[in-house]
Amino acid sequence: MARIAVMVGSKGRGSNMRRLIEAGRAEEFPGRVECVLAPTPDSPAVQSAREMGIPTTILSPKSPDYPSELARVLEGMDLVCLAGFMSLFPAEVLAQHPGRVLNIHPALLPKFGGKGMYGMHVHQAVLAAGERESGCTVHLVTPIYDEGRILVQLSCPVEPEDSPEVLAARVLRLEHQAYPLAVRLRLDELAHEQPSGKEA
Ligand code: GRF
Repeated sequence: MARIAVMVGSKGRGSNMRRLIEAGRAEEFPGRVECVLAPTPDSPAVQSAREMGIPTTILSPKSPDYPSELARVLEGMDLVCLAGFMSLFPAEVLAQHPGRVLNIHPALLPKFGGKGMYGMHVHQAVLAAGERESGCTVHLVTPIYDEGRILVQLSCPVEPEDSPEVLAARVLRLEHQAYPLAVRLRLDELAHEQPSGKEA
């Protein structure tokens, strides 16, 4: 059974985190969320994780020891799922988990990705560009924002009367389907890449 860590942001709402925790509680799912990492102790995501009985660790990316502390907390994890995590994942920690750090983005990458493209900025940009379609992307994390191989993309229409908030809500419903699918897919790939690996 694969061990999964979820990393949320400082204002984390935590809906993808909750979805992954729930998915991991289904008997046939190949992984379980074992810990949630957050930069601050007072977000709704941290509150939810505690209510769901998942251990939480608070680590500030501003702390000088952040990379080494993060490496210590993630030791032994098979997969790390970023869900609303806003900082750049430290390259040295990434190197210890090659192909095992995933991120979810609320647009159809490579469009509307990169630095500054987060939250409502993404949906505002999609609407301003007159896109007819949007969606979400789960991808492998690399040292560059929103790059890395795409694992799962789900799309939905953009309606002419959409506000950024309405579009965000439509995309979020897709995110909740996409993340468990991507986790399952990536764990399956890893099991085949390393048949004797611990996640098999
Ligand atoms: C999601 O829209 C995700 O795509 C982005 O941050 C948001 C997190 O939402 N990376 P939630 O905290 O999971 O509800």
